[in-house]
Amino acid sequence: MTKLGRLVPSIWCATALWVGQASAQSFDDVFAIMTQDANPDSPGCRGCHIVPEPPTGLIWGDTEDEVLASLEDRDPNDCVDPMDPSTCAVRGVVAGGNTRPSILSVRLESGSMPRFGRPWTEDELQILWAWLSQYDDPQ
Ligand code: HEC
Repeated sequence: MTKLGRLVPSIWCATALWVGQASAQSFDDVFAIMTQDANPDSPGCRGCHIVPEPPTGLIWGDTEDEVLASLEDRDPNDCVDPMDPSTCAVRGVVAGGNTRPSILSVRLESGSMPRFGRPWTEDELQILWAWLSQYDDPQ
């Protein structure tokens, strides 16, 4: 094995450790999967829940910010700090994270979503769970 060949895996490990320790995994990687156009070979939700329409009910919106806000559906009347929306209680499909578990994880793990699409692979579910853990119920 070349010197570079030995170096690359150790960089990978360091990156994995660093990502694993980040307290709140960003939504970016999950959105990258969801925002793909829905079709029988796709794990995406675009065309059903993700469309260029104002978010309401099962329509989560178009942009990453709109979709995240819809999935979280925070309660503006139940906040630790009323000036900071990120402290408001989560009541959307991510509530409960992996522990309760959330409606979002149940639908994706069971393969009931994406409807008429390709169920998420183990790798895609790992990305989901890493991000969802920030919504876990307090132990
Ligand atoms: C072909 C259209 C279609 C696609 C693609 C699709 N969905 Fe759905 N989804 C629906 C419909 C219709 C419902 C409402 C009926 C039901 O609950 O099964 C629904 C319901 C849901 C619910 C329950 C919502 C709630 O408030 O209880 C979740 C969560 C969900 N979908 C997640 C997803 C995710 C995540 C994707 C993409 C990875 C996806 N769906 C792809 C059509 C779709």
